[in-house]
Amino acid sequence: MTTDEERRLNVAATGLVGTEATFLDAHFEACRREYEAMIRSVGIESGWHVLDAACGAGGFLPLISELVGPSGSVSAFDLAPDTVAVVEGRVSNGEFSCPVEVQVASLLELPFGENEFDAVWCANSLEYLDDEELPAVLLEFRRVLKPGGLLSMKDADGGLWLFSPGDPTFLPRAWAAASKVSQNFRGCLRTRSMRRWFEKAGFRDTWQRATLSEMWAPLMPQQRQYIAGQLTQIGALAERAGVPELDLEFWRSQRDPESPTALVNDPDLFWCEGHFVTVGRC
Ligand SMILES: C[S@@+](CC[C@H](N)C(=O)[O-])C[C@H]1O[C@@H](n2cnc3c(N)ncnc32)[C@H](O)[C@@H]1O
Repeated sequence: MTTDEERRLNVAATGLVGTEATFLDAHFEACRREYEAMIRSVGIESGWHVLDAACGAGGFLPLISELVGPSGSVSAFDLAPDTVAVVEGRVSNGEFSCPVEVQVASLLELPFGENEFDAVWCANSLEYLDDEELPAVLLEFRRVLKPGGLLSMKDADGGLWLFSPGDPTFLPRAWAAASKVSQNFRGCLRTRSMRRWFEKAGFRDTWQRATLSEMWAPLMPQQRQYIAGQLTQIGALAERAGVPELDLEFWRSQRDPESPTALVNDPDLFWCEGHFVTVGRC
């Protein structure tokens, strides 16, 4: 049975924070314009065999399948069986423009042979790895990529998130607290240096670019759903980690998105989050 805290943390069957399928769909829709531009920028080509590593509910799969076209193919995997089941449903519904196969697997032990892929795409997921796991996973990506193959990732960076109106110190304080109890919040403070991690793992021709997703009231329904989900999630982690009482009052006031004090109902709301795309070649 899902507890109230688990619901606020948007967990999937794995128990990982921020990975539940409807939350992932709302996240993708809220950031769709920027996310599509990011993946279009990395250089995936027609006819390629691409790995979508930790694909979640498959938000990026329609565009990856469009980029590789009918002569290409996509393999995808995720640790969470419930989100993999969602992607299997999308494959059965014929939602993709090329063959897509999906399975349950771990980033730490890729179920693929050497030199299988022209490109690996990994979105919003390397943040779940600690500093020992990340280099091991980058080496796994090198193993499954063809010589010259392309590694591309996108993750959020917590230092590029803000909202207004309200006390501008609430969010950085909550993020710092959340990073003590949640690997993915900690991982989102490492994204800015991802290019260097790629280089240390032996990738060359690396580049990294920041993008902001800026959302203004009046929000579209998916933006409202997504921001409300982020606020309850960050608040639950801040509560778990322990932030000052005044901060807690604010985060608790965000639990109910229908409440007049909820930021998502504020006619002046501005919500901004920053991401990095990082690219390198084998
Ligand atoms: C925030 S979701 C992002 C999903 C998708 N890539 C997207 O951008 O919509 C993070 C995903 O990483 C997956 N994940 C976390 N750790 C993993 C691991 N060690 N191996 C495989 N998947 C993992 C989670 O199950 C989750 O689906």
